[in-house]
Amino acid sequence: MPLTRRDLIKRAGAAGLVAGWPGLSLAQSGGGILRMPPLVDATTSRAFDLLARTGETNFLGQSATSTWGFNNQTFLGPTLRLAHNSLTKASVRNGVSEPFSLHWHGLEIPGQADGGPHQPIATGATWAVDLNIDQPPATVWYHSHTHLRTADHVQKGLAGVIQLTDGRDDERGLPSDYGTDDLTLVIQDRRFDRSGRAVYDPGMHDRMMGFTGDVILVNGQYGAQAVVPKGIVRLRLLNGSNARIYNLASRAGRTLHMVSTDTGFLDRPIAIDSLQLAPGERAEVLLDFSDGTSDMLVSSSIANGGMMGGGMMGGGMMGGGMMGGSGGSFDILPISVDPSRRARIDRIPEGIGGTMPDLDIRGASRRDIALQSGMGGMFRRRRNQHSINGNSFEMDRLNFSVQRGATEIWAIDGQNMAHPFHVHGVRFQVLSENDGPVSSRNSGWKDTALVNRRAEIAIRFDQPAPASTPFMFHCHILEHEDGGMMGQFSVV
Ligand code: C2O
Ligand code: CU
Ligand code: CU
Repeated sequence: MPLTRRDLIKRAGAAGLVAGWPGLSLAQSGGGILRMPPLVDATTSRAFDLLARTGETNFLGQSATSTWGFNNQTFLGPTLRLAHNSLTKASVRNGVSEPFSLHWHGLEIPGQADGGPHQPIATGATWAVDLNIDQPPATVWYHSHTHLRTADHVQKGLAGVIQLTDGRDDERGLPSDYGTDDLTLVIQDRRFDRSGRAVYDPGMHDRMMGFTGDVILVNGQYGAQAVVPKGIVRLRLLNGSNARIYNLASRAGRTLHMVSTDTGFLDRPIAIDSLQLAPGERAEVLLDFSDGTSDMLVSSSIANGGMMGGGMMGGGMMGGGMMGGSGGSFDILPISVDPSRRARIDRIPEGIGGTMPDLDIRGASRRDIALQSGMGGMFRRRRNQHSINGNSFEMDRLNFSVQRGATEIWAIDGQNMAHPFHVHGVRFQVLSENDGPVSSRNSGWKDTALVNRRAEIAIRFDQPAPASTPFMFHCHILEHEDGGMMGQFSVV
C-alpha cells in the first residue's frame, strides 16, 4: 500500500521531518543535518576492510526496516578514499545471510578483481583481493553484483562510494574537505509501506520498467538538509537508485558547473542548468553559495518521447522533504548556508586539467548491441524477460571475446526505452547520440551512459579478463540487469 502524501505529512510531522514543505523555512525544518558516509582513507595504508552486516534502519521515524550495510553502517557503506595509482588490498567479509559478490563499478582493473557475478562470497567467508589501480581521479562506487540478486541487494544497502584521488585538488582549485565543501550524495528512491518500512516487492510492471519509489533518500537519510559554507561547494553525485533517472537542478536557479563525469575530470567546467543522472552514473558539480542564500536540489521529470525507465515523475512524488506540489518537480535535498563559515574556494576554476576522451578509432571494429525488454516472445524463461541481441544473460555463456589493447565501436540500440548502458573494466567515449552530437553530460569519460534510442561508444580494452571472470556489460536498471539484459565478454 503506497503512502499517500497526507500520510507522509502526518508521519513527517510526528518525526519532525518537514524540510522543504512549502510555508516552512529551512531554518525551521527538523529533518536533521545530512550526514556523510563515514570516510575510510586508505590512501596511505593502501588497505581497507569491508564487513557486510545486517541491521535495522528507521528511515521515516516509524517502523525500522531490516537492511544491510558495511562496517558501522546498517545501510550503505563507508566512502573509501583510495590513491588513483596504487596497489590497494581489499578485504570483504560476508556477515549477511546469503552470498553476494561485490563489484567495483568504475575501477579499471582485471576481471579477477572485478567482483562480478562469478565471484560470490559465501556467508562467513572473506574475499581478499588486490586492487591494482592506475587511472585518473574519479568518484566511482561499489555495490553487490550477485547473480539474479543485484537489485534486491542494492535496495537492502550493499553499496558505497569510492573516491580515487591524487591529492591535487587544491591545485585544481576544487573543494576537497570531506563533508564540508565536498559533499558525497548517494541519491536513491524507495517505497514504504504504511508502517514506514521500506519494501522491495517488484511486480511484473516493476520488472518490466524498473522499480521506482516515491520517497527520496540521500545517503540513506530522509528529510535531512545539507549545511554548507559561503563559497564554492562540490557535490559528488551518485545515482544509486535501481531505476529512477533524475534531472537535477537548483531551485534557486544556480548554475551547475560540471567538473567530472563518471571516470574522470573534464578539461574545464561545463556550465549547465540541469543534470540528467541515470542509475549507476556519477557526476561532480560545483555550486556557488557565496551569496549566502539557501537552495533546494530538485529533480524534474525528463522530457523523453519513449517510455522512460524511471517511470512517470510528478504527482505523489516525495522529495527530500515533501513535494512542493508543482507537478513534475520534486525535492532531493535542501541546502542552507552557514554564513559564519567561509569556504576555502571562492571562485569556479577556469580549468580542471582533466583529459577529454579522444580515442583513436581508425580501424576500430564495430559491434551492434541491442537492448531488448519484454513485449512478445520474452516470457520463454521464467525470470529472464530482458535480453541483449536476443540472448538473456546466462552465467555459462560468454557473449564474445575482445582482443586486449583493441579499440571497438559499440553501436547500442535501446529500442523503445531509455537504458543506462554500463561496461565493466573500461572507461569509454560517447561518439554520438541518435546519430547526432554528444550531449555535454556525456562529453567526458564515462562507464555508464543513458542510451535513449541509439548511441555509439568507443572503448579501448586495456584490462585483461579471462573467461572464468569475464567483464559484464548491461543495463544499469537493476531489474533489467537481473532480468537478463546483461552479457559478458573476455579480454585476452
Ligand atoms: Cu554498477 Cu555491472 O555494475
Ligand atoms: Cu561496473
Ligand atoms: Cu534497461
